[in-house]
Amino acid sequence: MENTTTTKCPDFPADLEYLSGFGNHLSSEAIAGALPQGQNSPLICPYGLYAEQISGTSFTAPRKLNYRSWLYRIKPSVTHEPFKPRVPSHGKLVSEFNHSNSSATPTQLRWKPVEIPEEPTDFIDGLYTVCGAGSSYLRHGFAIHMYSANKSMDNCAFCNADGDFLIVPQKGRLWITTECGRLQVSPGEIVVLPQGFRFVVNLPDGPSRGYVAEIFGTHFQLPDLGPIGANGLAAPRDFFAPTAWFEQTFHPGYTIVQKFGGELFTAKQDFSPFNVVAWHGNYVPYKYDLSKFCPYNTVLLDHSDPSINTVLTAPTDKPGVALVDFVIFPPRWLVAEHTFRPPYYHRNCMSEFMGLIYGGYEAKADGFLPGGASLHSCMTPHGPDTRTYEATVALGNESGPRRIADTMAFMFESCLIPRVCPWALDSPFLDHDYYQCWIGLRPHFSGEATKAQSGDFQNGHN
Ligand SMILES: [Fe+2]
Repeated sequence: MENTTTTKCPDFPADLEYLSGFGNHLSSEAIAGALPQGQNSPLICPYGLYAEQISGTSFTAPRKLNYRSWLYRIKPSVTHEPFKPRVPSHGKLVSEFNHSNSSATPTQLRWKPVEIPEEPTDFIDGLYTVCGAGSSYLRHGFAIHMYSANKSMDNCAFCNADGDFLIVPQKGRLWITTECGRLQVSPGEIVVLPQGFRFVVNLPDGPSRGYVAEIFGTHFQLPDLGPIGANGLAAPRDFFAPTAWFEQTFHPGYTIVQKFGGELFTAKQDFSPFNVVAWHGNYVPYKYDLSKFCPYNTVLLDHSDPSINTVLTAPTDKPGVALVDFVIFPPRWLVAEHTFRPPYYHRNCMSEFMGLIYGGYEAKADGFLPGGASLHSCMTPHGPDTRTYEATVALGNESGPRRIADTMAFMFESCLIPRVCPWALDSPFLDHDYYQCWIGLRPHFSGEATKAQSGDFQNGHN
């Protein structure tokens, strides 16, 4: 560990139980019989609990896109003092991107891993926006954040009124308490915390770092599989929601920290918000282990578009156009014949933000490190660096099947064009020499026919 900050962190049981299935209508009781039967809002709920609905879509959203849950709790969420702007304000969270808070740049950007802060910093204060587009107020857009923290949240809970968080821990586990129950999330797993849920992030390992995609106005879905068929990629049963868990404790001065329009507000109450004894519904936090992903790819020639590795997609109203796709580059076999196997050189109408959880990325021989990031915006050229290109063509057609192992890179890809926050552009971790990784690419053109043109490679053998 590079930082020895001690952190007060409640124990989580090692054998937490979860409920399985993406998008399922689930139910859970911490006390048997706490869930009302036959109706959602009885005059008197079992055990004298309050019934409270949380709506993640408009009431009249089509049924297949309608998300809501019913929470049965000791006191309702409304039992708190008025919201006030947090003091001190945060200053590095953006939910409406414009000229006043961010810049547009077509330049390829890459960041080295940020250091873990020395001073005690929890998930809220360690979170900062890197880039994004659109507006949480207008319910269309996204933000990409990163966090770097070393301390569990204490006597407060976070609530994001702006959108859903998809968190990708890169260093340090997250023990997350939500109103639906508790989730243990390790690097290599992801967690989605839907808009409006209150949660606490504890850091049992101390120094922690990761990435967050936030989406406004929609929710993540599993991608359609098309000709792949009914199975493959991320399986619905591998998504885990928590089971009901509650605490009934007197917490004088407990603070709800609410992100609303990118600003933080606080409200005091004297009890834990994790007082939900039972719940049911399909609007829930969930986690997913990326190692369970079942990748598909080419088995003869050419490099598939990265969409083949989509884990989750947040759609727009245009068919096939994502507000945010979450795509991974997991361990897998490369077997394509007479093919340039790394990702192709590319210009894209979509914008691509990449991160690396562990290992190396197949298109970058060096410089792209775990905990680092890159951004290639709309129509900005990108692709394998010089070392990767030269090493690949030097292998020739004799390389045989090769397994990419011990790696997990990912991409947040959006149809919207991100604006970049000033602290990300001014960051000491910005790699000003990023362009150098391509500048050495030299012409291989000689005017003479290559071996491939002679037809030998087209037969699959040379
Ligand atoms: Fe690309």
